[in-house]
Amino acid sequence: MRDFELNLTPEQESKRQYEYMEKAKELVFAKEKELGRKLTFSVVTFGCQMNARDSEKLVGILTEMGYVEVEDEHADFVVYNTCTVRENADNKVWGRLGYLQNYKKKNPHMIIGLCGCMMQETGVIEKLKKSYKYVNLIFGTHNIYKFAELVYRCLSTDKQVIDVWKENDKIVEDLPIKRKFKFKSGVNIMFGCNNFCSYCIVPYVRGREKSREPKDIIREIEGLVADGVCEVMLLGQNVNSYGKNLENPMTFANLLREINKIEGLKRIRFMTSHPKDLSDDLILAMKECDKVCGHMHLPLQSGSSRILKIMNRHYDKEKYLDIVRKLRETIPDIAITTDIIVGFPGETEEDFQETLNVVKEVEYDSAFTFIYSKRTGTPAATMDNQVPPDVVKERFNRLLKEVQEISAKKAKSLEGKVVPVLVESLNDHDDSLVTGRLENNLVVHFKGTKDMIGNIYNVKLEESKGFYFLGGLA
Ligand code: 5AD
Ligand code: SF4
Repeated sequence: MRDFELNLTPEQESKRQYEYMEKAKELVFAKEKELGRKLTFSVVTFGCQMNARDSEKLVGILTEMGYVEVEDEHADFVVYNTCTVRENADNKVWGRLGYLQNYKKKNPHMIIGLCGCMMQETGVIEKLKKSYKYVNLIFGTHNIYKFAELVYRCLSTDKQVIDVWKENDKIVEDLPIKRKFKFKSGVNIMFGCNNFCSYCIVPYVRGREKSREPKDIIREIEGLVADGVCEVMLLGQNVNSYGKNLENPMTFANLLREINKIEGLKRIRFMTSHPKDLSDDLILAMKECDKVCGHMHLPLQSGSSRILKIMNRHYDKEKYLDIVRKLRETIPDIAITTDIIVGFPGETEEDFQETLNVVKEVEYDSAFTFIYSKRTGTPAATMDNQVPPDVVKERFNRLLKEVQEISAKKAKSLEGKVVPVLVESLNDHDDSLVTGRLENNLVVHFKGTKDMIGNIYNVKLEESKGFYFLGGLA
């Protein structure tokens, strides 16, 4: 029986999961005694920042159970947190699973777990049941909060444990999380997506949009700040529609205003913004709130209004450019980045030229460019006018060249400027240098010491090297 069928409240559910952590801890301890060493684990993340945050939850729970994290996959417990947004993400996982099987043959007690978006895809579970019997644990995106219970079940049986749900409207708070970075953290503000862009599998694998309560988000951020975090990245598939389904609706702009008041917090980032829901009030809130970074990630997907319509994006080229104009008018130095898909079914050379035109007009600070990938179950997959791969590749290369030239030019234009930089680490190659991040997400290396990590400094950008800068304290 599933938990939500038991009708537990999120608070009761959270308590129940802590009980499973305790029970699993005893089994882990017994195994440690038997082997005469600690048990190890590795969580491997594919895909987006949402998955990265989910992985921190898995790491938190395994750590709580007494497992010790290791870097490589030669561990007692390996979890692949999968992505399925493009087909090559799936292929990577199947490939790595084959490799893990060989390792498991030599270490039969090893546990292999799979979770994330790929598990929600039709056909995947059947394939795993049939041909990947050595995978011990399979669960999806909707019941990740049950991880402790599922691990416990896995430790107490030899059978494959499979628990994948189609949907869930419950958000369970307050489970352990182990952050990858000391001073910065992702924070989910919502889950799922209601937009059904015609190429995208996300709404099918992540379910309908659900927002977290503002008080829960704020409490989490306050806790993070108390624990040394100075930068948060607010995460949602479409943050601009945050709060619409709450009992007491709240806009994303107002959520930003509330978060901006949190004492000790220094930087606020967010992603992703859907142009169709981006309000003028959000632009104002970004300007008003001193902690919100001057950066907007605003996926374009295509510059052709005709293609945007078939993509079901609910904006056209003009509306998109209008938002960019407003953003720049209100926040002159704002960095704008984007996602673009090349080769959507039926894309003509003229459509592609429209995309290039927008790229040239907006002059993105950086852009993620993707080759269209056919995802079974999405409307675009059934369109019979798929663009030939060689045509797509050729367009993709032209786009990439344009995007890179513009990014380099934009970075170059910052040379000589003094900007606020959050120091993230000592430099990997030279420990007389520190590495910090600008509001636009680019990196700068400059003379500094370890104690500067987690603080913001004014840094002069002396030389642009394309994707990073060399600089000095101003
Ligand atoms: N093919 C290629 N790119 C895709 N994206 C989403 N679905 C697909 C697909 N089927 C891209 C979009 C989105 C980003 C996260 O991934 O550009 O913004
Ligand atoms: Fe996919 Fe569109 Fe939702 Fe983004 S907004 S996750 S592209 S369906």
